[in-house]
Amino acid sequence: MKKYYLTTAIDYVNGAPHIGHAYEKILTDVIARHRKQRGEDVYFLTGTDEHGIKIQKTAAERGITPQQMCDENAAKFEQNWKELEIDYNQLIRTTSLEHTQIVQKIFKKLLENGDIYKHSYTGLYCAGCESFLNPRDLDENGCCPDHKKKPEEVTEENYFFKLTKYKDKIIEIIKNDETNFIRPDFRRAEVLNQLENIEDISVSRSVDSVSWGIPVPGDESQVIYVWIDALSNYITALGYDTENPSENFKKYWPADVQVIGKDILKFHSIYWIAILMALGVELPKNLLAHGWITIDETKMSKSLGNVISSKSVMDEFELEHPDAFRYFMVTAAPIGKDGNYSDDDFKEKVNAHIANNIGNLLNRTLNMLVKYFDGNLEQDFISNDLKSAATDTLDDIKTKFDKFEVAEAAQSIVNLADTANKYVNDTAPWSLAKEGKMQECAKVLYNVLETMRYIAIMLSPYCPNISQKIWEQLSLEGNVADFKLDELNWGEMKLGKIAEKSTISPVFLRLDSEIAGDKKKC
Ligand code: ME8
Ligand code: MG
Repeated sequence: MKKYYLTTAIDYVNGAPHIGHAYEKILTDVIARHRKQRGEDVYFLTGTDEHGIKIQKTAAERGITPQQMCDENAAKFEQNWKELEIDYNQLIRTTSLEHTQIVQKIFKKLLENGDIYKHSYTGLYCAGCESFLNPRDLDENGCCPDHKKKPEEVTEENYFFKLTKYKDKIIEIIKNDETNFIRPDFRRAEVLNQLENIEDISVSRSVDSVSWGIPVPGDESQVIYVWIDALSNYITALGYDTENPSENFKKYWPADVQVIGKDILKFHSIYWIAILMALGVELPKNLLAHGWITIDETKMSKSLGNVISSKSVMDEFELEHPDAFRYFMVTAAPIGKDGNYSDDDFKEKVNAHIANNIGNLLNRTLNMLVKYFDGNLEQDFISNDLKSAATDTLDDIKTKFDKFEVAEAAQSIVNLADTANKYVNDTAPWSLAKEGKMQECAKVLYNVLETMRYIAIMLSPYCPNISQKIWEQLSLEGNVADFKLDELNWGEMKLGKIAEKSTISPVFLRLDSEIAGDKKKC
C-alpha cells in the first residue's frame, strides 16, 4: 500500500484559532481524505507551536505561566479541529517531552557536525516575526513590512546554523524541475531570489531575552530559538531520532506534502531544507504554500477587530455540520492565491453550488423516480448518456489533486452537476413521461442518479456529511468515504427500489438570507 504523509504548519498558541488557521487545516484535510479514496495509507499530522517570546509575553501580561496559556489555547485549537471534522492522525505539541528531547538531540548532532557554531551578533530583531530582519527588508519607515513596527537592535552571543553552506545545493534543487518541491510553481522565483541574499541564521537566544524555549543541551545560558524547534516537529512527531529512527519515521518520511502559508515558505523552503540536509534526512516531496484569507477584503487583525473563527460562522448560520464552511473555505481561492470570506459570498456560493445545483438535482430526480416508477431502478434503465461526463470528471479531479488544485477540483464536480442539470432540462423527463415514453424517461433518471453517485463520492472529502446524505438518499450502503476511486465504474448504481416519497429529503437546506449579522466577531 502506498503511503501518503501530509503535515500542516503548527499554529502559535498565543491566541485562539481563526479562519486563516481553519483554511489551512481544511485544505490539508480535504487532500488527506482524497488520498484515502485513492487507497493510500495516509498519515496526517497537525500541531501547535508553543515556544517563543510572543507566548512568553502574552502569558506574562495575563499573569499566568506560559505552559498554562499553551494548555488553554492548544485545547481551543483541538476543539476547533473537531468542530471542522479535521481527521488528523496526530496533533503534536512542541512543549511535549518527546519533542523537546528529540529537538535537543538534533541540536547536539548539528553542533557536533559543525553545522552549528557560536557567534556574537548584533541585529534588528522583530518580535512579531520572531526573527532578525535584514535592513534591506525594512519598509520606508524602517519598520518590519509585516508588523509595521521598528525592530529592536539586539546584541547577543548566539548559536548559528550554517545556512550558507547549503545555499548552492538548495538553489540547484529548486531550479531543477525534476527535484523542485515548491508548489505552486509561481512561488519558485521568489524563493530563489531570497536564497541569493541568505546568511547564516541564529538558532538560539539568550535566556535573558527569551526563557520560554527548549534549553540548548550543555549550555544553560541559551534556549533553542523557535525555528529549529518548530520545524523539527514534522519528523519528531514520527519518532525521528538521530540514532534510531522509529518504524513510523521509516514508513512515512519523506512527507508527500507539507502544507503551509505563503508567509512561512521561506522558513520551509530554505531553513527546513538545509536542516534536513545537515541531518542527512530526505527532503519533502512537496511544499505547498497556500495564500491568505482576508475578511471582507481586509486583512484580519486584532486591532481592527475583524478576526473571526469558524465557530462564529457556524453558530451564526446555525450549521449542523461544517460541510458548507469547509466547502466555501477550500474553494475560496485557486491554489496558492489569496481568498476572501464574506457572509454574502458564503451564502451565495453554498446555496448555488450545494443546495441548488447538487441538492435540488438529486431531489427532483428522486421525486420523478417515485412518481413515474414507484422508486424502482431497473436493469434496462442503464444508459451511458452521462458516462463520459462523469468518468472524465473523475480523471480530472485525480489529476487536479495530484497538483493540489483542490478548489479547481471542486469546480469540476460542480460543473458535472451543471451538465447533469442541463441534461435533465434538455431531455425533459416529465414530458417524456407525459408522452408515455417511459423507457426514455427511465434512462434519463438513471443517468442522473448514477452521476449523483459519482458526485457523492468525489464530494466526500469536502463535504463528508452531505455526501453521506446523498449516498443514503440513493439507498447505498456503508460509508461513502470508504469507497475507493479505483472501484468506481459507470453503470454500477444499485438497482431495485431505491426511493420512497416519505424518505426523500433535501441533503442541504439553503442558508437563510436573514440569518447573517455582524455578531460573528471573536
Ligand atoms: O506561522 N489566511 O504560526 P501561525 C491563511 N508557528 N492562512 C493563515 C492566515 C490567514 N489569514 N493566518 C495564518 C506560524 N495563516 C508558525 C508556523 S510551522 C513549523 C511554524 C497560516 O499561527 C500561516 O500561514 O502564525 C501558517 O501556515 C499557519 O496559519 C500558522 O500560522
Ligand atoms: Mg503567523
